[in-house]
Order: sequence, then C-alpha cells, then structure tokens
Amino acid sequence: MFDAVILASGGINHTHPMKCHVTYFNYLLVRITNLSSLLSSATIKCPKRFVLFTQTLSAQTQTTMAQTSKQKPLLPWKTRFSISFLSTLTDYARRSNGTVNRRLMDFLDRKAQANPTPVNAVSTIDVTVDPSRSLWFRLFTPDRDANAALLPVIVFFHGGGFAFLSPDSFAYDAVCRRFCRRFHAVVVSVNYRLTPEHRYPCQYEDGEAVLRFLDENRQVLPENADLSKCFLVGDSAGGNLAHHVAVRVVKLGLREIRVIGLVSIQPWFGGQERTAAEVKFEGAPLVSMERTDWLWKAFLPEGSDRDHPAVNVSGPNSQDLSGLDYPDTLVFVAGFDPLQDWQRRYYDWLRKSGKNAQLIHYPTMIHAFYIFPELPESSHLLSEVKDFITKTISRT
Ligand SMILES: *[C@@H]1O[C@H](CO)[C@@H](O)[C@H](O)[C@H]1NC(C)=O
Ligand SMILES: *[C@@H]1O[C@H](CO)[C@@H](O)[C@H](O)[C@H]1NC(C)=O
Repeated sequence: MFDAVILASGGINHTHPMKCHVTYFNYLLVRITNLSSLLSSATIKCPKRFVLFTQTLSAQTQTTMAQTSKQKPLLPWKTRFSISFLSTLTDYARRSNGTVNRRLMDFLDRKAQANPTPVNAVSTIDVTVDPSRSLWFRLFTPDRDANAALLPVIVFFHGGGFAFLSPDSFAYDAVCRRFCRRFHAVVVSVNYRLTPEHRYPCQYEDGEAVLRFLDENRQVLPENADLSKCFLVGDSAGGNLAHHVAVRVVKLGLREIRVIGLVSIQPWFGGQERTAAEVKFEGAPLVSMERTDWLWKAFLPEGSDRDHPAVNVSGPNSQDLSGLDYPDTLVFVAGFDPLQDWQRRYYDWLRKSGKNAQLIHYPTMIHAFYIFPELPESSHLLSEVKDFITKTISRT
C-alpha cells in the first residue's frame, strides 16, 4: 500500500513550476501502476521547486491506524492514492490566512468538458442560470431513455467543503454520468459559488435559485423530464446544501417542481462539541477536525461558531421541521467517517420531527467512498439510491 505525498517547497504561486508538478504526478501514477509491488520508497526530483515522493504509508496515516488499532479500512491502493492526492491537494490549496489558492486548485483539478454527443448513452450540456454570479449547472440526459414516458429530475450538489471542486471536476462529472445512466433520470449538477470568496448563505441561495430557474424555465430540460418527481441529492457539503435547499423550497412552494425525495450521502454537519467519531478518526483524510474547522471558518459569517444552525443543524438552535412538507430522506453513513455521529444526529432529528427517513450504514467505508467506482460498495450505494427513487415515486 502506498500513500503519495506531494511536497511543495513554497513558491506555489509561480506559474511555470506547475506544469512540472503535474507531469511528475502523472509520471508517478504510471510508475506506481507498473511497479506497485516493487516500489517501497522512491524520490523523484523535479527540476524547479517541487519534489514528489512516495513512501509506505504517511506518518499521519500510521498514527491513525495505531490509534484505531486493528480497525482500518481495507481499500485498494488506487483508491487510497486518489484520496491521499485529493487530501494533500486541498491541504496545499488552503492557506493559513484563510484564503484558497485557486490557481493551484484550477490547475490540478482535472476538468471534463460538457459533451452533447452521447458517451455511454449520456449527453451533457452546461446551462447558465445567472452570469452575474457564474451560476450554471451541467445537465446530464440519458440518451437511451429519450422515448421513456417520464424521467425523474435529480438536482445534485457536489461535495468539497463548500470551498473546492465543481460539476466539471472529473470525478463529479463521472458520478453524475453514473447517476444518469443507472437511475434513468435527468441530472442537474449545480455550480454553486465557493467559500471563502463567497460565504454562507451564498451556496444555499444558489441552490434555491437553480430550483426556481427550473420551475420557470422548464424548456431547458428534455421534454420527458418530470419536475413533479424531483430529488435533491448531495454528498458531504452537498448533503448539507441539499438539506438547507429542501427547507427553503418547501417553505417557498414552487409551481411545477415537487421535491419528493432527498438523498444525503455522508452529509457534512458539525458543531462546537467534538463527537466520539471525530476524536477516534482524527487524522483521517479529507475531513479531519483540523480541515473541517478551517472550512467551517471559511464558510460561516465572521464571529459565528460551529453551533450556527447551518452547521449544527439538529441542535437546539435548529429550526422546527415538524410543520414542513420535508421530503422522504435517505441518509448514508460509513464506519470510518469522522462525521458519522453528526450524520446520525441529523437522521435521528428527521425521525423525531416526524419525517420519513432511512439510514444505510457501510461499516468498512471512509468519507467519500462512493466517488470511487472500483469499490463494490459504491455500486451498492447506487443500487440503494435507485431503489429509493423507484419506491418514492411509486408512493406519490
Ligand atoms: C493570503 O495569502 C496569499 C498568498 O500568500 C496572498 O496572495 C493573499 O493576498 C493573502 N490574502 C489575505 C486576505 O491576506
Ligand atoms: C449542537 O448539537 C448538539 C446535539 O446534536 C447539542 O448537544 C448542542 O448543544 C448543540 N449546540 C447548539 C448551540 O445548538
């Protein structure tokens, strides 16, 4: 098993060394693919300022594994490598002065262009909602279902701590393609504004604006898209977003759209208090406390703490859902996710508020596992969502 660590010795704002960075990363990937059984420790020097090296498990991972003793997630090295890469990339992009290095992110976050020619029976186009705030979505249409009677509409919110990634990030473009194909649904993947440049509640406003736009501009969707069978789906920060957008739109009441279901994949909630899982899995990639604290601070208004109702969604500051026509909800949690206790509280709170909610637990999985199609659990999760969609539609 290998973890990749990218070392950037400062100077990350200089233009030309970046290319070398990526070239060497790709080079490293190829090397690891070919030599994974041989490579135990290698250092590859990059001419300018960057050094990439691999080692047998990073020190941090070892500490975490020592803490969690026998329990460790068993993941293919490819998945570990991708997670480690994303985690390290976002660590370098987060500056200590609270800003994000967009040039670094844009450069290393591999993008997929919209493609109106069907690939694996899915075609995509980007639709502008409001150019003044770069609000757009990527529309995924299942080509094979062109003659189907009616297709549900999935509005999807990607994860990334409200600070990273977008619908055209390679991984999320791929996720939505899988959704579109497997669920026989039209998928709308929302490009909401990111923090810290745009703080709370911009993301919720953007989510709501896209739903209003669809409600008033039905013609942008394929003719057989059925807005009365609309689902909100989100992972991580996107799960937080899906919840808050659901509350906004059920209060607002839209004309054509009916949100009948919500799929919350490892949603990102939190609070001042540290939960048992946060403590136990400190040092986990992507969502360690150090990272989530930084990201919440970048998201929340100045002076707020993590007990803000956007974060501590089910605490005493929370709003009363009992009178709202909140959609039926499916929540996914995983056994190695530091955020799992907050996710369970969200689920318990929905139940206590009289809502129809279901929880599915993957005991051996980590945060964001479903992004990785090589994991059988990822495919399983998609089947569960498909079931949920079918059952929810049949109940309405
Ligand atoms: C934060 O640091 C970066 C890089 O050092 C700098 O370019 C940027 O202006 C700083 N921003 C603020 C708000 O201090
Ligand atoms: C945050 O939520 C937890 C319960 O989920 C609660 O114990 C705590 O008091 C909350 N804090 C606030 C200020 O809502």
